[in-house]
Amino acid sequence: MSEFAPKSNVLLTGDRPTGRLHLGHYVGSIKNRVDLQNDTSITKRFYMVADLQGLTDNFNNPEKIRDNVREVILDNLACGLDPEKTTIFIQSTIPFIAELTMLFMNLVTVSRLKRNPTVKEDIKEKNFGEAVPAGFLTFPISQAADILCVKADIVPVGADQMPHIEQTNEIGASFNRMYAPLFPYVKGVISEYPRLVGTDGNAKASKSLGNAIYLSDSFEEISKKVMSMYTDPNHVNVADPGKVEGNVVFTYLDIFDDKKDEVAELKAQYMKGGLGDVVLKKRLIDVLENVIAPIRAKREELEKNPEYIDKILKQGFETTMKETEKIRDEVREAVKLYNI
Ligand code: TRP
Repeated sequence: MSEFAPKSNVLLTGDRPTGRLHLGHYVGSIKNRVDLQNDTSITKRFYMVADLQGLTDNFNNPEKIRDNVREVILDNLACGLDPEKTTIFIQSTIPFIAELTMLFMNLVTVSRLKRNPTVKEDIKEKNFGEAVPAGFLTFPISQAADILCVKADIVPVGADQMPHIEQTNEIGASFNRMYAPLFPYVKGVISEYPRLVGTDGNAKASKSLGNAIYLSDSFEEISKKVMSMYTDPNHVNVADPGKVEGNVVFTYLDIFDDKKDEVAELKAQYMKGGLGDVVLKKRLIDVLENVIAPIRAKREELEKNPEYIDKILKQGFETTMKETEKIRDEVREAVKLYNI
């Protein structure tokens, strides 16, 4: 017997509401989740705004989380997330997630939590050391609850989230073995694109590094960011041969420019010498403007109608509550809890 329940074909994904979303989010996760709306083998889809998880490293700045709940919803809707196909809800409004987190806490050791590569990297980056807040160390447990509270088994995420999916499966398997086989095996669906580099060439595009192009950026902002993009520091004169590898303009063209043969030609020309950065950057500005302009326009339209978001959130809450109440009853029975 497998240690997992049969496939559920339920999709769940989410964002931390810590800031507006940028092109890194777009290629890393949003595009993927929007495309999966057309996959007819999926029976239910959920999109969660993970506000409680956002608080785990922003608990001293609740306004930031509060304000960005709407921003990330607007970004996702503007990119094509469709509330008719995807139930949109806010993590903190669903009490069963907290209950399930509590139950899952018993199934994970502190040493296992410290071994999670993504958490480990974050702890180092934030200089927490042993003074890491328990809420932060344990967020992968609550992420397992996010996913399993609706028995989701398809989770489109960026590659950095895979350790959390692995932990979710360990937790699900332990629960299934110990109590009752309720939870399916969770599959992380990674976008075909790797993590998007920042405009400065840093491995990661992020808000804190100020090297990201936002889905709500104006044409002027896009232009400014592309014009200051990292290229090849040794490519001083147009006539000089230039390097393509590690050149951010080409990295972005590879991802966003549909005319692959033209990009290949430009690369050859650049390596030979005689092609200036400005020509390339102008091309990239047009390419990115073509991607972002429709998103920006839709976002502006949605921003004018806050009641529409309220309505989506109310419906999403009701649908998610109904779904989690069924599963909560099964969980309480399995763990022999009172269910009054
Ligand atoms: N940790 C995810 C991120 O930082 C956000 C998230 C929270 C999530 N809960 C989730 C993603 C459940 C997928 C499934 O991007």
